[in-house]
Amino acid sequence: MDRGILRIQPLATTHDRLGFSCGVPALDRYLREQAGQDARRRVAAPFVATTDGVRVIGFYTLSATSIELSDIPPAQARKLPRYPRLPATLLGRLATDLSVRGTGLGRVLLVDAITRAVRSEIASFTMVLDAKDESAASFCAREGFIRLPGTPIRFVRRMDDLAAVVGAP
Ligand SMILES: CC(C)(COP(=O)(O)OP(=O)(O)OC[C@H]1O[C@@H](n2cnc3c(N)ncnc32)[C@H](O)[C@@H]1OP(=O)(O)O)[C@@H](O)C(=O)NCCC(=O)NCCS
Repeated sequence: MDRGILRIQPLATTHDRLGFSCGVPALDRYLREQAGQDARRRVAAPFVATTDGVRVIGFYTLSATSIELSDIPPAQARKLPRYPRLPATLLGRLATDLSVRGTGLGRVLLVDAITRAVRSEIASFTMVLDAKDESAASFCAREGFIRLPGTPIRFVRRMDDLAAVVGAP
């Protein structure tokens, strides 16, 4: 990573996405071709990391979703009302450029996403994280998310737990 100031901001037209490569072509393509449209249509909120304000070196997306009560692991479902579905926040995509891989940016992006999610005034019971493959899955597990059985490879972690992680009330 170069020594500029790391900024994580909503994706804007001034951000250069063309050179971004995380090793997963579908994610690179998403950032190049789809993320801007998703933002304009309010389907997902993409956030990008830069050190020069321009070249994207990492990104993630947040959107509202819901999760079935029966999908929540018993240990995380204590004292919940019997609503059939619960509000959740989807961290749909998370990727760092290969040039900065392993430098801590993945975790920084994850903490930034958690911070934005717990700050929201709209209730969300849990964060949902979809992993692309087993390698991404081990990243999610290391970060304290609980894997749900079945496919896609999906992880969850309660928002009150995440709030404590980032020191939010
Ligand atoms: C997953 C990803 C975002 C991690 O980004 P990163 O910048 O390498 O992550 P960090 O440098 O912040 O690493 C954070 C911790 O996770 C670990 N980690 C990172 N990638 C890992 C992987 N694939 N498997 C296991 N552990 C991993 C790191 O070793 C580090 O742990 P440590 O602090 O104990 O050493 C990145 O590998 C990526 O973009 N992958 C391709 C896209 C993808 O699969 N996205 C889905 C993610 S859910």
